[in-house]
Amino acid sequence: MDKIIIEGGRPLKGEVRISGSKNATLPVLAATLLTDETCILRNVPRLIDIRTMVDLLRSLGKDIEWGKDKDKDKLTIMSGSKVSHVADYKLVSKMRGSICVLGPLLAKLGEAKVSLPGGCVIGVRPVDLHQKGIEALGSRVTVEGGYIIAKARKLKGARVYLAGASGPSVLGTANIMMAAALAEGETVIESAACEPEVEELANFLNQMGARIRGQGSPRIVVQGVKKLHGADYRMSFDRIEGGTFVLLAAMARSSFAIRDIDYSQLTALDDVLMNIGVRVEAEKNLVRVRAPKVLKPFSVTTYPYPGFPTDLQAQYTAIMALTNGVSVIRDTVFPDRFMHIAELARMGARIRREGGSAIVEGVKELSGAPVTASDLRASAALVMAGLVAEGRTEIRRVYHLDRGYENIDKKLIALGASIKREKE
Ligand code: EPZ
Repeated sequence: MDKIIIEGGRPLKGEVRISGSKNATLPVLAATLLTDETCILRNVPRLIDIRTMVDLLRSLGKDIEWGKDKDKDKLTIMSGSKVSHVADYKLVSKMRGSICVLGPLLAKLGEAKVSLPGGCVIGVRPVDLHQKGIEALGSRVTVEGGYIIAKARKLKGARVYLAGASGPSVLGTANIMMAAALAEGETVIESAACEPEVEELANFLNQMGARIRGQGSPRIVVQGVKKLHGADYRMSFDRIEGGTFVLLAAMARSSFAIRDIDYSQLTALDDVLMNIGVRVEAEKNLVRVRAPKVLKPFSVTTYPYPGFPTDLQAQYTAIMALTNGVSVIRDTVFPDRFMHIAELARMGARIRREGGSAIVEGVKELSGAPVTASDLRASAALVMAGLVAEGRTEIRRVYHLDRGYENIDKKLIALGASIKREKE
């Protein structure tokens, strides 16, 4: 396990480029299971989670090659000799997102045996909506020995309402959309997730010959087709990495350029930033942040897209630690996603947990300390805090960071940060 050491307080300047989207690439990779033809994906980030999904697809029979040199962000996915319908525990347990191979395996092979993802530090990760959706399409589903087992001679289109107590499901919508792409007849997904990553998956599927409309809205309509062909597709930017760097720029009071970002996908963040006194100047695919010396506190509740993203909640909690008042941050999507509070408190933040909320009392400054990363976005919050804190911060278990942020230490060093990575 690596650790990173940050000397805080360095001014940040220059330019950072946002990598391709992790949460769009994972379901798009799963969608390649729907065809025997070759697929090419470009602008793919080199992340641990992407490597895990590549390993999983290889175990399911795909031959996959990474591009080299100037093509290092290119993935070529081809059909291998053997095919398997079993996604086993040792790979799925590494990454909950692996559940999104369920729909494509079932649609292409008529059966799927996928290890249940199990819980993680941000909360229980149920798959009841995934199961409800594939059963609506005519699949028989059993849960045995920690696996969800689905079988269907032929999937038939259906209307399915796909939201639970916490709202729509991003990967649940992805799974049903992929299964419906090869089902007989029309499928209507009501209360579908509207995240841009779901929209991107639908666009990729349509490029493979699927017939999907309504993506990005709560009602997605899929006309099943007999067969899907290969596609050559460029992944768009990582919305959450982009939002993380915008929040970092605000927290560090820096106007470094953030490139390859479509800021129109972060309107909820922009609305919140305006309320704390921060302005963002957006040009075509570049933004610069203008932040005042003192940030105002502003309470936020996370919601499914287009609401304030739960994946920016930890980062926002970090910036609220340094305001001149009290703010309440509530996470309605993952009410237990507050592992970062205890670590930020070690750096002098005054935050207390009340149920699914964090009550943040702003302080003047944070001081560096040894802290431990727990999950992907909590680690990003600790990096942000370390970059603005007085003194030295040592973040252990940065494996979590490498799961979702490509070369983040190199990107921050290029902006002038004092960061070094060491073996733990
Ligand atoms: C995706 O996870 C993202 N992961 C998560 O990002 C993100 O936090 C989440 O969507 C919400 O936006 C990927 O895309 C790989 P959900 P997903 O199903 O699809 C409940 C990151 O940091 N639910 O939309 O697994 C669930 O408990 C990761 O990059 C059910 O009740 O999340 C949660 O409360 C972390 N039943 C809510 O819905 C189900 O069958 C939203 O979960 C499925 C989900």
